[in-house]
Amino acid sequence: MGREVIIACDFASGQETLRFLERFGEARPYVKIGMELFYAEGPPVVRALKARGHRIFLDLKLHDIPNTVERAMRALSRLEVDLVNLHAAGTRAMMEAALRGLTREDGSRPRLIAVTQLTSTSPESLRDELLVTEPMEKTVLHYARNAKAAGLDGVVCSPLEAAAVHRACGADFLAVTPGVRFPDSRADDQKRVTTPKLARELGADCIVVGRPITAAEDPAEAYGRCVREFV
Ligand code: C5P
Repeated sequence: MGREVIIACDFASGQETLRFLERFGEARPYVKIGMELFYAEGPPVVRALKARGHRIFLDLKLHDIPNTVERAMRALSRLEVDLVNLHAAGTRAMMEAALRGLTREDGSRPRLIAVTQLTSTSPESLRDELLVTEPMEKTVLHYARNAKAAGLDGVVCSPLEAAAVHRACGADFLAVTPGVRFPDSRADDQKRVTTPKLARELGADCIVVGRPITAAEDPAEAYGRCVREFV
């Protein structure tokens, strides 16, 4: 998998998503479908975007007992998406079960990556609510190693963690990174942001970009700018 710019289609309906993607003309960017859109529209929206020719990252962050995750992943695997994810906190047994569920009879499967720590979890809540006394960065790398040991293809992380993830898990272990902004765009609710150019320099393999593209006056131009800087 080469470097990719993935557009986070955080829209409330399939109609809104299709209207947005029509602004790209003949181009078929790689898109991310998250919980909001998937829970609103279900598998038909995935099939519709697939039929249009988009590659799809289905960002549903599964976290449950291994048997349930295995069966859920089997259902997702039939949607022919390209990339799916889960929470590394579900343990190695859950991640291994997920891989079994994703793998089709012919041995093919979507790529699978793990969320380590949510970027919304602060060091204080990690310690005081979750009772994890190790530092955040150490837990992120430890979870990444668990994901690697379970056979996963990579993790979702901050661009600032990409180099450390590659050092811990190898150069071909994917670092898929949100939190990307142009120097002249708003940070919104993202705390630690990097530009597409810096994300590339820091070693990110894929960037997930939402509002800098979805809220741009000319989304195709903003997407092109990401591709020029990152790919
Ligand atoms: O609009 P923006 O570029 O901030 O969108 C980033 C996307 O990446 C959103 O869909 C968000 O849910 C997702 N994401 C994130 N931080 C994480 C994991 C996912 O921003 N740690």
